[in-house]
Amino acid sequence: MASMSVIGIDFGNESCYVAVARAGGIETIANDYSLRATPSCVAFSGKNRLLGVAAHNQMVTNMKNTIHGFKRLLGRMHSDPHVSSEIKSLPFNFTPQNHGQIGIKVNYMDEDHVFSPEQITAMLFTKLKDTAEQGLKTTVNDCVISVPSYFTNAERKALLDSAQIAGLNVLRLMNETTATALTYGIYKQDLPEPDDKPRNVFFVDCGHSSLQVSAVAFNKGKLKMLATAADSNLGGRDIDTILAEYFCKEFETKYKINARTNPKAYLRLRTEVEKLKKQMSANSTKLPLNIECFMDDKDVHGEIKREIMEELCAHLFHRVEQTMRRCLEDSSYVPYSYVSVRETVRDEFTVNFSRFSAIFTGLDAKFVARSFVGSARLLGAIGGIEPVVWKACLR
Ligand SMILES: Nc1ncnc2c1ncn2[C@@H]1O[C@H](COP(=O)(O)OP(=O)(O)OP(=O)(O)O)[C@@H](O)[C@H]1O
Ligand SMILES: [Mg+2]
Repeated sequence: MASMSVIGIDFGNESCYVAVARAGGIETIANDYSLRATPSCVAFSGKNRLLGVAAHNQMVTNMKNTIHGFKRLLGRMHSDPHVSSEIKSLPFNFTPQNHGQIGIKVNYMDEDHVFSPEQITAMLFTKLKDTAEQGLKTTVNDCVISVPSYFTNAERKALLDSAQIAGLNVLRLMNETTATALTYGIYKQDLPEPDDKPRNVFFVDCGHSSLQVSAVAFNKGKLKMLATAADSNLGGRDIDTILAEYFCKEFETKYKINARTNPKAYLRLRTEVEKLKKQMSANSTKLPLNIECFMDDKDVHGEIKREIMEELCAHLFHRVEQTMRRCLEDSSYVPYSYVSVRETVRDEFTVNFSRFSAIFTGLDAKFVARSFVGSARLLGAIGGIEPVVWKACLR
């Protein structure tokens, strides 16, 4: 069956998901590590090229040749201020190419190589294609890929080029906001009849590096995007940066070491604070951070509580609130029945407000109350991937 080979790709700045419609349902395909999420990571070494989980696993020991965060570089010029600010926080080397295009410099097979973000993305896509083919035991050519709603034509074109290099035929690019809304709507049996008053749902998708919110009106078999708003430079990584800085300061006084001057130590710290951040989402008590042999042979220890994190990140949460306000205004303040936060941990579809708590306790309580409470009920996790495939298969 031709439709069997259509896959949906959720290409994130941090990780990707691949899914397929099969046996009347939508299934996320696990990779060779039995994980549903494949890190958006490509690495080079003297002997080989590593993709996804394998690349991510060796990041700390091969920082200069482990490429990540490239979704945000697609379709842009090296001189773009947005690119300059991204480059600052990436540990690998860049070299501008002909006509000012971005070049990522790596050592591969003991030679210097320069790749474009589109080529790197294509390498990752070959991995996703492989994952799908292994999982489905069939050849895969056709796909649907989700993109941020704010992606420009140049960024969309770059993504299409990447897919083409990887041998994938893109049936369509779908806005991530639409994909999220479809996930909610497709399985709902109890939506209002087509001519009745719609059910309005407000979606919040806070990713690794960007925030997208949308207001959607649902009726049976019908979905109307009322408004969308985004902060393309606000995500989980900003919280990680703040937490890393918090511990850098603490370790300076406590152990007389400056982790900012040691890229490897700093990367390890970021990995650890990210874990801590996730724990904090579900836990408001004091949590420990321990890293052995961190710098200068010193083991380090610290601790933090959600309350402190929320104070430190108040300005970020304020931006979440502002983005939500913009979307509310654009949707003319229709009353919402539901507020939903898309959850990364897509296996935990049941009520998991972990990320919700991190974001929403930081919001102005009055704002949330005024805007959403009353009839609004909070929904749990919604994955973004499945509808992407669904739509592809319906074609
Ligand atoms: N339980 C949790 N609590 C807090 N943050 C979490 C939790 N689980 C995941 N995150 C954070 O969510 C972010 C990843 O989200 P997601 O997978 O949606 O991003 P992405 O789609 O790869 O990136 P983007 O949408 O920016 O392209 C990371 O910063 C991660 O640390
Ligand atoms: Mg995302």
